[in-house]
Amino acid sequence: MVRFTLPRDIYHGSGCLKTLSGLEGKKAMLCVGGGSMERAGFLAKAKEHLESAGMVVEVFFGIESDPSVDTVMKGADRMMSFGPDWIVAMGGGSAIDAAKAMWVKYEYPDITFEDMRKVFALPKLRRKARFCAIPSTSGTATEVTAFSIITDYSNGVKYPIADYGIVPDIAIIDPDLTMTMPQKVVAHTGMDALTHAIEAYVSTESCAYTDALALGAMRIIKDNLVASYSDEGNADARARMHDAQCMAGMAFSNALLGIVHSMAHKTGAAFADLGAHIIHGAANAMYLPKVIRYNAKESSALARYCNIADFLELGGGSDNAKIVKLVDFIDKLNDSLRIPHCIKQYGKDSYPVQEGFISTQDFSARLHDIAINAVEDACTASNPRKIDARTMEKLLNACYYDRDVDF
Ligand SMILES: [Fe+2]
Repeated sequence: MVRFTLPRDIYHGSGCLKTLSGLEGKKAMLCVGGGSMERAGFLAKAKEHLESAGMVVEVFFGIESDPSVDTVMKGADRMMSFGPDWIVAMGGGSAIDAAKAMWVKYEYPDITFEDMRKVFALPKLRRKARFCAIPSTSGTATEVTAFSIITDYSNGVKYPIADYGIVPDIAIIDPDLTMTMPQKVVAHTGMDALTHAIEAYVSTESCAYTDALALGAMRIIKDNLVASYSDEGNADARARMHDAQCMAGMAFSNALLGIVHSMAHKTGAAFADLGAHIIHGAANAMYLPKVIRYNAKESSALARYCNIADFLELGGGSDNAKIVKLVDFIDKLNDSLRIPHCIKQYGKDSYPVQEGFISTQDFSARLHDIAINAVEDACTASNPRKIDARTMEKLLNACYYDRDVDF
């Protein structure tokens, strides 16, 4: 038996934010991040729509990026005193992730953060409230997924909460919210979405349902990501990307991911003390070509990557040539989006430079621990080719130096 879970309703297209005015309920807690939704007027609009639906609205403002356990607990406290029957989360992935975790705590005030982290073991939600998610960036797709990432700053570790119960009831995919997205965010979130689609398609948990969504997302991304990035006023490309990232999310929420994400998760903050993070989408973009080379040594994964190359009409007369074309396609996308090819060239501002912010010595010193952590990451289990810590070190080295993967 295979389970496939999505939100009950997904509204998409310009102006669909107004769907909020049709929600039925008494009280809505509107959870948002920093000021961008407020400045662009979307916070006021969302509040207006909810009030026109006859609801009393309270705003929880200021959810930080990489949201903390503290923020989750604060938000849940506010929910407990306000008593909403709708939680509406609007903004980037962080705002929606935090609101999902607040929701769990609101429904079960005695639950601890440790309990929440038990994978696919949450008690039944929706005793008190339903959940509506409205993304303002085009990448994480948390508006349709069973995941939320919360950081425990007491030990600096990011923890996933994973349960089909936290798949939102309603997702509102309104591209108008993405029009103010900065270029760099378009690049990183777009490559995150492409990685979601490709990893979901080759995952050991993929099925016909997830395949259709993953391939569909890849085609739209191929046709629209660069236009969405380089032509900031291109509303059509932005709208198409907003749909594509959501489709990729529907695929990976059900098919899971692979070791591109394992490596991105564990390298992301590993060098933060040197003055920068490796941004999630940029990490994926750099590692994806190397992982394709590694996984393609396994025959069933090879066949899947060849299907992708065929579906995207990349050319190539043999299996090997198709893999070359696919890797080349991703490398060229990275060039168009000003994303480096390897960690060594990753500048503090995420742009490519000759010598990036992580020196060879710093990388080598931390490589062993990162490799072990990456192998233990939750995404490793559904990767199509197995990997041990020693091989992970080799793969991470290839990602650092931009070396060929011939193992
Ligand atoms: Fe991702």
